[in-house]
Amino acid sequence: MPRLKLPPIRSSEITAERFFHMRREVLAGALGLAAVTALPRASRAAAAAPGGAALKYTRNARYAIVDKPNSYEEITGYNNFYEFGVDKTDPAANAGSLRTRPWSITVGGEAGVTGTFTIEDILKPHPLEERIYRHRCVEAWSMVIPWVGFPLADLLQRFKPTSRAKFVEFTTLLDPKQMPGQRRAVLDWPYREALRIDEAMHPLAFMVTGVYGRELPNQNGAPLRVHLPWKYGFKSAKSIVKIRFSERQPANTWAVSAPGEYGFYANVNPSVDHPRWSQATERRIGGGFFAARQPTLMFNGYADQVAGLYQGLDLRRNF
Ligand code: MTE
Repeated sequence: MPRLKLPPIRSSEITAERFFHMRREVLAGALGLAAVTALPRASRAAAAAPGGAALKYTRNARYAIVDKPNSYEEITGYNNFYEFGVDKTDPAANAGSLRTRPWSITVGGEAGVTGTFTIEDILKPHPLEERIYRHRCVEAWSMVIPWVGFPLADLLQRFKPTSRAKFVEFTTLLDPKQMPGQRRAVLDWPYREALRIDEAMHPLAFMVTGVYGRELPNQNGAPLRVHLPWKYGFKSAKSIVKIRFSERQPANTWAVSAPGEYGFYANVNPSVDHPRWSQATERRIGGGFFAARQPTLMFNGYADQVAGLYQGLDLRRNF
């Protein structure tokens, strides 16, 4: 495979946090102190659990939230990763067959810098930070996760998308030998997801490489997965091997498999139900099955930051 060198990242290209000045996050940062100081206990649990190598990162208090993070065991033991089976415990049981090194990512389409890059080239220039994000699955359960990673925009800008790049698509590895779930046609493999370019460049969009300060376990999408905290979890493609910039809106796996049920946008929206269940409330994993459901928040609680992206868009049609 040709090995291309990526140009080094320039500090001017790194998403400027100074443009990301939102009262809500500052407020959340202040309130979030409680959550952050509550973290060491959970971190000790994480350290006790078998996990990947410890990562060097800084904690970004701006993305701390009041909700208590889920435990390492919950985050890595209750997953959706159909490449390893359709039950929630299948990924943790079966994802050991995935080899995450060597790993490469092919970048193509409407960008000035394209080619195949090693995971080392991809990760090297990016300082890692921890952000505690809400994670809301379309199936109406949720978690709170201390992810480690870096802004998605910082990576995408290194490829110099052209003015025709209106969308960006992420594709998961296709290898039925390593991913036994792909031997059955449960989905149209490989798993593909896409974003409008302005969504992908939004400061909340996060490229994830770790959880609880440790390298991401395979079942959570090692070595690299995205997380879009204002969208249903299925937008967050795991174990990415391809990034493609395009002028036209790409098809996304779940919308292909059930177009009446899953759309392109997948913004968390309590007032637009799934055809088979309500999205008005959610069950927080770890609360016990009979624990009271909690109300789902518009854009998963990130409305102040992201609502502007969708001005003039009919969210009922564009679900
Ligand atoms: N990515 C791939 N490749 N395959 C999948 O089945 N499931 C999605 C998303 N990314 C999925 C995927 C769904 S439905 C959710 S809710 C999240 O991953 C779950 O992420 P987690 O297991 O880390 O909580």
